[in-house]
Amino acid sequence: MTSCKSSYLFLLLIVALVSCEEEQPSVEDYIATPYTLSLPDDYAAMPIPEDNPLTQEGVDLGHRLFFDKRLSGDNTQSCASCHLTSKGFTDGKRFSVGIDGIAGPRSSMSLVDVGYTSELFWDGRVNTLEVQALLPIEDPIEMHNTWTNALDMIREDELYPELFRKAFNIKDKNSITKEDAAKAIAQYERAIVSSGNSKFDRVMRNQDLFTPEEFLGWSAFTDDDPFVPDAECSHCHALPIFGSDEFSNNGIQEAQTLEDFSDNGRGAVTGVAFDNGKFKAPSLRNIELTAPYMHDGRFETLEEVIDHYMSGGKPSPNKDPLISAIATNGLNEDHKIALIAFLKTLTDPDLQENPLYQDPF
Ligand code: HEC
Ligand code: HEC
Repeated sequence: MTSCKSSYLFLLLIVALVSCEEEQPSVEDYIATPYTLSLPDDYAAMPIPEDNPLTQEGVDLGHRLFFDKRLSGDNTQSCASCHLTSKGFTDGKRFSVGIDGIAGPRSSMSLVDVGYTSELFWDGRVNTLEVQALLPIEDPIEMHNTWTNALDMIREDELYPELFRKAFNIKDKNSITKEDAAKAIAQYERAIVSSGNSKFDRVMRNQDLFTPEEFLGWSAFTDDDPFVPDAECSHCHALPIFGSDEFSNNGIQEAQTLEDFSDNGRGAVTGVAFDNGKFKAPSLRNIELTAPYMHDGRFETLEEVIDHYMSGGKPSPNKDPLISAIATNGLNEDHKIALIAFLKTLTDPDLQENPLYQDPF
């Protein structure tokens, strides 16, 4: 009896020891804190993928990764190098230049409200932020690194293993993947959202008034006053984001045939010739900060942009009929100045103030 009892106790001890030993190296589960986006009143809920809910820890990790130059091949460039807060998350260049000094074929894009678009890039060739975030790091004319290198840096860093543990409950730094890093960056990008404090938003909430000039521009932009000529803008740059996931040819390039465009844009993605020369109509929020304009940065000022639209654009087989219409609607120099004044009310003052959008290094 006694020996049986003691061996039973002994067994219990072993079980206790073994289970103790099993738990020792593993760390407690960490449950990240849900992150609530504060959105302008007229914004719909942002679509968030089920497998990547926003958390405070995920957004914070993404914030750091977004600004981390060590993710590039020579430690000189981060996402933020081409998406600068001060320039509405663009880079102010006609064509973006990567770490090897090579310019890419297109101009950088604003990331404000990017969580609302599922057609990423000027041609919509990628549909989720999680997939998009994987690309620049290995792009030979952007950050020109390998994910193997980037993950080595992340695993050896003083802070990242703990930040990944908190964001995604990853207990072993060796199991951090590039997809985890991309998820965090995507969360951060979804948190780059309008504050609702632009003059336009305040006017809509009756907290401010348009000047007569801005009001004229607003009326032309939205075609909503029968006594003001239609500028047709809001058909493609739809409220409240002032952009859309539709692709169109807004007449910036002359082309005799559908094969004549220097950049086929959407057509290269769909393989449909009629889509050649079509691009996404991007958000115009913060447009004052994001010069130069268009996918190839061809216009340096908003004056040039409005001159272009008022001219009805250059001829090509699939130019959107709305663009030709703009030229015949009777807009004059006053409307041009008014449109520019209105566009400037879309600048979000909180962009430069919010610590979430500043360099954490
Ligand atoms: C060398 C400059 C450069 C770097 C570095 C860079 N980008 Fe970009 N980004 C661009 C350019 C140029 C485009 C437009 C490219 C196109 O349409 O083909 C773009 C487009 C995007 C878009 C699409 C936005 C939209 O509205 O469709 C997202 C999102 C984005 N970048 C995020 C990132 C992230 C995240 C990183 C870092 C991992 C990054 N970028 C690094 C230049 C850069
Ligand atoms: C038929 C659709 C359409 C109409 C109408 C239209 N746009 Fe656009 N807009 C686009 C497209 C598409 C682009 C991107 C074209 C490109 O880069 O090749 C664009 C680009 C722009 C840009 C540059 C954005 C950037 O980030 O570089 C501005 C500014 C702009 N539009 C303002 C206006 C204004 C103001 C009006 C009205 C006068 C207007 N648009 C009417 C489709 C349209």
